[in-house]
Amino acid sequence: MSRICEDKRQKGINIGLVPTMGDLHEGHLSLIRHALKKTDFVVVSIYVNPAQFGEDEDFEKYPRDLECDVRLVDSLGAHVVFAPSDRIMYQEGYSTYVTVESLTAVLCGRSRPTHFRGVTTVVAKLFNIVRPNVAVFGQKDAQQLSVIKRMARDLNMNIEIDAGPTVRESDGLAISSRNKYLKKEEREKATVLYRSLKAARELINTGVTSSEQIIRKVRKVLDEVPEAKTEYVEIVNFDDMRQVDDVSNGALLAVAVWFGETRLIDNIIISGRGG
Ligand code: PAJ
Repeated sequence: MSRICEDKRQKGINIGLVPTMGDLHEGHLSLIRHALKKTDFVVVSIYVNPAQFGEDEDFEKYPRDLECDVRLVDSLGAHVVFAPSDRIMYQEGYSTYVTVESLTAVLCGRSRPTHFRGVTTVVAKLFNIVRPNVAVFGQKDAQQLSVIKRMARDLNMNIEIDAGPTVRESDGLAISSRNKYLKKEEREKATVLYRSLKAARELINTGVTSSEQIIRKVRKVLDEVPEAKTEYVEIVNFDDMRQVDDVSNGALLAVAVWFGETRLIDNIIISGRGG
């Protein structure tokens, strides 16, 4: 992979990278299309990264279908799939990790304390192998996006980090590989996530800027569905993931909700006045 990319670089070809864990869906495909528009040689990495799963999380059962993924990537016209083995990514004696501090301690980091360290480590490795000009990530995982932007900035990686909007099912549920885990009734009820975010948007459109009031509204909508167990509802600054009391200058509204064994996350960007 390194050699192929080095060859392209030598020829002055711009390289795009779309890191994924496979089981590609429309959300991933939209990022690949974005990369194809921005760059001339697009690498899609597919790697279920053990380092970002907690001890009792879903690493084993995470859906994998490399053949189908390769066909999808090919059909879009992306150029290479990079699907490394664990042996290559974490060779025996592996002992180096990349950690972004503070931003990773809140929101999803509270219940998944080692998750972001795993993400930044594998993404840094992919960046070193591919050395892309542009790497594309989804707004769906807003905290991950913010953390990766911070890593790239702090470590002078000189890679443009682009974001793609969240792609949703027709009923509003953000597409995710983990939606497959939902039982039929849970899948139906899961539309409450987006409904709660839309209710917040409507409230904000009436002129409300108090985070407390907005959060209360989101929780109320979520609480209408007894099967939905809310883990967090928070309003933070996108850049540092710190809570904000007022959304006048723009903010990120993020939620994490459990349905049985399945944890779903979603978010919306609240644009600031004039934004
Ligand atoms: P994965 O969950 O496969 O997601 C790969 C990329 O697709 C991420 O940037 C994610 O934000 C984006 N994505 C997922 N669902 C989306 C949707 N509905 N709309 C738009 N984009 C969506 O995120 C990871 O993998 C891993 O943590 C990874 C970055 C690959 C590191 O292992």
